[in-house]
Amino acid sequence: VKDPIRVVITGAAGQIAYSLVYQICSGEVFGKDQSIILHLLDITPMMGVLQGLIMEVEDISLPIVKNVIPTDNEETAFKDVDVALFVGAMPRKEGMERKDLLSANVKIFKSQGIALDKFAKKSVKVLVVGNPANTNCYILAHYAPSIPRENFTCLTRLDHNRAKGQIASRLKISPDLVKNVIIWGNHSSTQFPDVRFSTVVVNGKETSVYEAIQNDNWLKNEFVSIVQKRGAAVIAARKLSSAMSAAKAICDHMRDWWQGTKDNEWVSMGVISDGSYGIEKGLVFSYPIHIKNGKLSIVQDLKLDDWSREMIDKTQKELIEEKNDALTATSSQ
Ligand code: NAI
Repeated sequence: VKDPIRVVITGAAGQIAYSLVYQICSGEVFGKDQSIILHLLDITPMMGVLQGLIMEVEDISLPIVKNVIPTDNEETAFKDVDVALFVGAMPRKEGMERKDLLSANVKIFKSQGIALDKFAKKSVKVLVVGNPANTNCYILAHYAPSIPRENFTCLTRLDHNRAKGQIASRLKISPDLVKNVIIWGNHSSTQFPDVRFSTVVVNGKETSVYEAIQNDNWLKNEFVSIVQKRGAAVIAARKLSSAMSAAKAICDHMRDWWQGTKDNEWVSMGVISDGSYGIEKGLVFSYPIHIKNGKLSIVQDLKLDDWSREMIDKTQKELIEEKNDALTATSSQ
């Protein structure tokens, strides 16, 4: 068994964390031979609830968990961490304007960014899940300047998995036979789920998704809209946001970052843009990402037609507005 890595989960008393903690502790993400010290951060009123979670971790008795540290203190939470999963955020409340939500989250991610910068390992791998995920990640990175830019990511893997799921169920095949879907842009309803380069295996034969489905109209309209609005559909049905599927997506994202993607395959991740595909440099934008030896790279030279360019520009426009509102909020705090 390898020496322990330190993994922090924020929002640890919430519903995503409740599904996530088991999967992390079971070795599915970092490997069954990788021991873990788990740091669990939440706000002070949730410390009692967190104790319950810790009792459960003890009760499942998993061999790779060396220690669990519950805390409401940012220094304790981020001290020497190798992996930081930012799940906690301020939820949107009834009647709350987008700007108020942004401002509340800027406050959280500014404070946590400063603490991450000060206390985490410089090699820390960061994944932001709490919404608005892309912009929260932007603020976090902004306040953690000593950590390399390529270490910051936000979660769009749930959208990626939803897109795979929709194609698979339309073709009545297993989702792992669907390859190379892309989520471009914001983890919001302006995201662009793109299957123009995706392939599927049907009856043992690999073919493009467009060829297999033979309905461009469905792929350009209904499919896009289902994926964009899936989060809202789950909330409407469950009266709670997606948690089990979000936790699974977090594990997929981190496992692939840790272990890499196959040649000629990619996954979707929000990363800090280097200007690829004409996106504003510095914006946290979801791209097709290939991973080798722990290094993320944006897949280049995929052709954009007029329709996809328009879809990408639309989600970029929303992200620029969000980022500007968040920066305005930071200057007034
Ligand atoms: P939840 O409300 O059940 O849990 C959130 C937890 O965060 C709570 O325990 C709360 O006390 C804690 N928290 C609030 N402020 C904190 C702070 N400053 N420091 C530490 N902890 C803090 O929410 P749930 O369902 O677990 O979702 C968490 C976030 O993930 C939400 O923002 C949600 O919108 C987002 N989400 C993102 C997805 C994505 O694909 N990017 C998918 C699904 C959810």
